[in-house]
Amino acid sequence: MAYRVHILETEEAFDVEEGESVLEAAERSEVKLPHECTFGGCGTCRIKLASGTVRYEEFPMALTPEEAEEGYALACQARPTADLCISVASSRQTFPEPARIPATIHRIEPYGDDVIHLTLALPGQGMDYVPGQYMNVVLPDGETRSFSMASPPAGNLVDFHVRRIPGGRYTDQWLGQARAGADVEIEAPLGVFSYHEEDWRPLIMMATGTGIAPIKAILESLLDNEDCPPVTLYWGMRTEADLYLRDVIESWVGRLYEFNFVPVLSRAGEGWQGRRGHVQQAVLEDHEDLSEHAIYLCGAPEMIRQAKSLLAGRGASLDHMYADSFTFQHELASA
Ligand SMILES: Cc1cc2nc3c(=O)[nH]c(=O)nc-3n(C[C@H](O)[C@H](O)[C@H](O)COP(=O)(O)OP(=O)(O)OC[C@H]3O[C@@H](n4cnc5c(N)ncnc54)[C@H](O)[C@@H]3O)c2cc1C
Ligand code: FES
Repeated sequence: MAYRVHILETEEAFDVEEGESVLEAAERSEVKLPHECTFGGCGTCRIKLASGTVRYEEFPMALTPEEAEEGYALACQARPTADLCISVASSRQTFPEPARIPATIHRIEPYGDDVIHLTLALPGQGMDYVPGQYMNVVLPDGETRSFSMASPPAGNLVDFHVRRIPGGRYTDQWLGQARAGADVEIEAPLGVFSYHEEDWRPLIMMATGTGIAPIKAILESLLDNEDCPPVTLYWGMRTEADLYLRDVIESWVGRLYEFNFVPVLSRAGEGWQGRRGHVQQAVLEDHEDLSEHAIYLCGAPEMIRQAKSLLAGRGASLDHMYADSFTFQHELASA
């Protein structure tokens, strides 16, 4: 039996046939819904059900039970069990169209032990993108690897922070021997992770590892901005030596409104005077009530999953929680 789906914002409608997901049916009907991984791993296709119900063959990784209870669903996995009225309001921002771009490595240098600071030179004036978005590096056989822009748009140079995965085809084998001047084909800009100016709420930014990259691009775009709300940044790493961006972040004090930087170390040495443990725990320790905040989460998928549930338990609104999950590419490929 087919069910009818209405989109509140655009007044578009389409039918979902038996066995189809909402996203598959939308694509068949040439209705655009934001999406990336299509296997329930990234959360980009999140919609809100104003009415109707859905089911999942397997409950998706990028949806928490709290979100499902609040009426959120992932269009790429959700199968309607009734007619639906859906809202795509949280992803209504428009983003530049992606394109294949021939780039070259402008600079490649280590950032601590296992992060590479990569700067790509793009042709002409560079590309238009929204801070928070990412690019795909296209490998010779067409496989792709995703990396977030770590700098806001400014000319033709773009920064990236690449964690070296031991044995990783791109981050270890290819980048391990790459030099300045090498050609790189990229597909960009991609993704919907971005700053939501309309929220007007104090910001809590939470990153683990190189998840700091898109957060850096967003926060640098807010430097000296009089409309910037108070910002607290939690950055989770293992050891003090891993905090490769500490000086840069500390230089934002006075340029971001009421900026508070909280590095959190999971394997701190004895001399460390700062916070220990995991970022999500540190946020809980510091905030009894999160109902007035906008929260941005970026990095390991497991951190994001846990944090969404824990923070929702402290009243954080899922309407003002934005996540960029660094899902591994082999998961994307095998989906
Ligand atoms: C939207 C998005 C944005 C991203 N942005 C960044 C970024 O800015 N900086 C960054 O460093 N990474 C980022 N990532 C993660 C990055 O894409 C992967 O780490 C990368 O694809 C690994 O490629 P590889 O060829 O070196 O490893 P592969 O050859 O694909 O994998 C080698 C082995 O390592 C495992 N593996 C792969 N990736 C990871 C990982 N991230 N952590 C642990 N184990 C892994 C695989 O399961 C496999 O066993 C992002 C991912 C997504 C989806
Ligand atoms: S596109 Fe649906 S979760 Fe990624």
